[in-house]
Order: sequence, then C-alpha cells, then structure tokens
Amino acid sequence: MDIEELLTERAALVDSELPVLLENIKPPELGAAVAYAIASKGKRIRPALVTLASEAVGGTAREASFAAASIELIHSSSLVLDDVIDKSEKRRGRDTIHKLWGTDMALLTVQILAALSLKIAARDPRLIHAIADSLFYMGEGEAMELVDFAKDKKGYLDLAFRKTGSLFGSAAQVGAVVGGGNEQQIKGFTGFGTHIGIAFQIRDDILDCISREEDLGKPVKKDLFMGRPSIVILDALNSGISIERMMKCNNGELMHLVSDSISYAENTAREEFELAKGHIEELDESLAKRKLIELGEYIINRSK
Ligand code: IPE
Ligand code: IPE
Ligand code: MG
Ligand code: MG
Repeated sequence: MDIEELLTERAALVDSELPVLLENIKPPELGAAVAYAIASKGKRIRPALVTLASEAVGGTAREASFAAASIELIHSSSLVLDDVIDKSEKRRGRDTIHKLWGTDMALLTVQILAALSLKIAARDPRLIHAIADSLFYMGEGEAMELVDFAKDKKGYLDLAFRKTGSLFGSAAQVGAVVGGGNEQQIKGFTGFGTHIGIAFQIRDDILDCISREEDLGKPVKKDLFMGRPSIVILDALNSGISIERMMKCNNGELMHLVSDSISYAENTAREEFELAKGHIEELDESLAKRKLIELGEYIINRSK
C-alpha cells in the first residue's frame, strides 16, 4: 500500500467518527457551517500519523481512530481561524467558511469544532493535555506571525513549531498513548511528530511559492503578499532580494528568483526529517515504523 492509499484508508476511520457529532447543532446555520467544514476533506495526514504511531507501539489503527478524529477536528478548527486571519477565500478547493457565512459564524465554527474535538478526546482524559498544549501553541504561533517577521532560522523554526509542529507532535503523542506505548516511546513520538510537523510547514512555505491555486486548492503567494514569515522568503530577504522584487514576479519568475532559497528550505526540511527519525531510532522495526518514515518522505516531497 502506498502512502496515498494509506491516507485514504485512515481517513475512512476518522470519517466513521464524525457524522454523529453533527446532530443537534443549533441554530441550523451554525450546524451547516460546521458540517461544511467537516465535509470538505483535506489530506488527512495527521490521522495517518496518529494511527501509525499507535500501531508502531503495538496498538491498532482502529482503537486510535477516536484520537485521530479529535486531532483532525482541532486541525480543521485551526484552518477556519487561519483563513479568517489570512483573509483567504479558498480552502481545499472550496470557498472558505467566512466567505460563505461571514466572519462571526466562522469564529463560532472554530469554537464548535474545538468543542467537538474535546468531546471525543474526553473518552481518554490523557489526550486532553496534549490537545490543550497544541491549541495553546497554535494560538501563540498565529499571533507571532502578526506581530513580526521571523529574523533568522532559529526564530522561524520556533514559529513553525508553534504553528504546525506542536499539533503534529500531539498527533504522534496521542497515537502512542492510546496504542499503549511506554513513557519513553510516548516521548519519542512527540519528538518525531514535532519535527515532521516543522518539515511539513517548510514544505507548505515552498508550495506557497511554486504551486498554482488549482493544484493546491488554496491561494498561493499568500505568504509573500500578506507578509507572513515563510522560510523561503526569509532566506531570500537575507540574501538581499527585496520584497518588492519578489512581488513583481509572476509564478515562474518567482520560482527562478528564489531558487537558492527554495533549495535552502528543502535542505532544512530534510534536516527536520532526520531529527524526527532520530526520535524513533530505538523503536523496534515494524511495518508501521516503515510507513511512518515513508509518511515523512511524502511530507517533504509532496506537491499538494
Ligand atoms: C495546512 O495543513 C495548514 C498547515 C499547517 C500548513 P494541511 O496541508 O494538512 O491541510 P489539509 O488538511 O490537507 O487541507
Ligand atoms: C497554517 O499556516 C497554520 C495553522 C493552520 C495554524 P499557513 O497560514 O501557512 O497555512 P495555509 O497555507 O493557510 O494552509
Ligand atoms: Mg493561511
Ligand atoms: Mg501556508
């Protein structure tokens, strides 16, 4: 089974957990917005991470499916909020919630998605801690983007950890917890997920520069035009390429102008992937462990 097939299989596990949650959300307008958020599916990478981590410590994917659903709901809520903040009108190839229902209803959708996540997580109170941590960090990360542009690699990596690495860390952590992992394994997986997540954000920054909206399902060159810290733009600025020059480029030209910075970002993503692997080095070999490594390769090379 290749990674894309595995993502589809694990997505189905999450999907089986969600419909019941949608019953009885009042008023119907809010219910419709929440249902829309849940129905528009992304790549479902975090559920794959949760369930593989569970299997890698001796559990099953099925017993981790509620944890995967809980993490995916936190992710969905963060996207609805991020689209309000970034004023993005497309997500997963569809109009964003705030575009369709307005900002107020979008913010309330964020709250309901987070509440649904907690409801599911409460089946195993050990998950609450991990989820609270990443909700907190993601809030900090999104706020950091608004107040200043990361100045160097260290600042950028700290931001990428908060914004994205923390939830990947929680995903791998809760997978190891529900799979029955020991303390050392749970710690190892938290580290693995965190670094995989930072690599994921770096690839997201690269795709923002090199992709087309039709392929990505969300607007491109957002980081450049919204002044958001991206490792590609940060490195280009530090190499003396001005924002104005970057902004004047069309798609192909930008890729060419910042090609060295794209390579730099690719190398940094690879470094994070190597750090991630170091955290699960001591784990016994298994199919799940091999799939986790494949998932990491996919994350740093993906084109959407
Ligand atoms: C997008 O995450 C937000 C970032 C953390 C960069 P994904 O790329 O996983 O979004 P979906 O779920 O596939 O839409
Ligand atoms: C995503 O960062 C961070 C969170 C979802 C919290 P981005 O702003 O780069 O994500 P996209 O590019 O909009 O998906
Ligand atoms: Mg965004
Ligand atoms: Mg982005």
